[in-house]
Amino acid sequence: MSSVWKTIVLLLHGQLIATLNYCDHSVAIEYQTLGFRPNYTKESRFGRIISLEKNVKVINIFNQNIPILCKSLFNVTKTAQALYIVKSKIREIEENIFKDQNITNIVVITGNKIATIKTLTFGNLQITSLDLRENQIEVIEEKAFVKLFNLGDLRLTGNKLKRFNPLSYHQLPSLEILSLDGNKIEALEPESLRFVQKDNFFMDLKRNRIFRLEGDFFGGFKRENLSLYLSRNFLEVLPDGVFNNHSFYNVFLQKNPLRNVTGKICTESCTITHLYLDKECLQSCDKQFFDWIQTKGIILNHFSNNVKVFRNCCRCKRINLFLIIVIIIISMNFGRKKHVCNFCYVSK
Ligand SMILES: *[C@@H]1O[C@H](CO)[C@@H](O)[C@H](O)[C@H]1NC(C)=O
Ligand SMILES: *[C@@H]1O[C@H](CO)[C@@H](O)[C@H](O)[C@H]1NC(C)=O
Ligand SMILES: *[C@@H]1O[C@H](CO)[C@@H](O)[C@H](O)[C@H]1NC(C)=O
Ligand SMILES: *[C@@H]1O[C@H](CO)[C@@H](O)[C@H](O)[C@H]1NC(C)=O
Ligand SMILES: *[C@@H]1O[C@H](CO)[C@@H](O)[C@H](O)[C@H]1NC(C)=O
Ligand SMILES: *[C@@H]1O[C@H](CO)[C@@H](O)[C@H](O)[C@H]1NC(C)=O
Repeated sequence: MSSVWKTIVLLLHGQLIATLNYCDHSVAIEYQTLGFRPNYTKESRFGRIISLEKNVKVINIFNQNIPILCKSLFNVTKTAQALYIVKSKIREIEENIFKDQNITNIVVITGNKIATIKTLTFGNLQITSLDLRENQIEVIEEKAFVKLFNLGDLRLTGNKLKRFNPLSYHQLPSLEILSLDGNKIEALEPESLRFVQKDNFFMDLKRNRIFRLEGDFFGGFKRENLSLYLSRNFLEVLPDGVFNNHSFYNVFLQKNPLRNVTGKICTESCTITHLYLDKECLQSCDKQFFDWIQTKGIILNHFSNNVKVFRNCCRCKRINLFLIIVIIIISMNFGRKKHVCNFCYVSK
């Protein structure tokens, strides 16, 4: 087939064929390996397939151009403890990407441009830590991470997720830390934590756009001493009984525009060891609230807030006309219907 015909066929058959085709003809990249103690021998290599003659501590790929991360790039038969792929313009990852590769502990794919983590992208691996920070991930499909029996730590900080989909996190019996801070999650759906199988779990949801916590968010969650980071969100109210029947070690709620927090959030069947709230929020709490704190034995931590949250920018006194005009121009240019003006933080 001439290359003209090939191009036409590619256009007709769309993305899948294009992906397969790209993976058949992927280009050579530069990568480094780092050996073990005592020498930590560092070697630079260049090739279309990453392979090892001996076991190494780290494979490092930095600043390459890899629009699609293909299985055919890897032939890791010796052991590599860690694989780093940093700032290499990855937009897509092929399914089952590291299947049969001998990468044992850590995978880090950060500073790339991945938009979707597709079903079965990461499956059947030995790794204990997966770090996908600072990509552009908007969607994580169901069962994107599956049968990662040793995975203890999954980092998704600094992406663009709008939704937390609990079905993405399937068969992760060792997971203890899930970081989703710095995303754009707006609401938390019922039974979001049913997948958690460990006590002392860390769920980090700070710096999102969460404005609602469904009463049944914790439904089906049966573990003890959850640490839940919900600071820097847009929560105004907590439903009565939202924490009931569950056990928390830390609940971080500071830097939310919360009002009227009462003891009804956590009654008889619920324990909280540490509760974190803004000083400003506590000022609106009544005596009953502080009695509740005492009877439940909660350690109350309050923050002197040097950042104030205002609902609706139009009420913010410190935003000047110039900034409003700039915001209007920017939002007109992009023509997006974002609620630019819903909330804003103003430093004192
Ligand atoms: C480390 O270096 C020493 C001396 O240069 C050498 O004998 C030894 O084989 C090296 N070890 C490894 C694991 O590369
Ligand atoms: C992968 O590596 C093994 C041994 O290291 C070699 O026998 C095999 O041919 C390689 N496969 C490819 C596709 O390069
Ligand atoms: C991985 O490497 C270890 C040690 O080098 C070896 O025993 C094992 O068979 C390898 N596994 C695979 C799937 O290649
Ligand atoms: C939960 O925390 C409490 C208080 O720190 C502690 O006594 C208890 O053993 C913890 N439970 C588990 C399962 O770690
Ligand atoms: C908490 O448990 C009690 C009894 O175990 C049950 O009646 C109640 O409905 C539960 N509440 C929630 C919010 O799950
Ligand atoms: C907060 O509580 C105070 C006193 O109980 C009440 O007057 C006020 O209406 C409440 N505000 C909201 C938003 O519920």
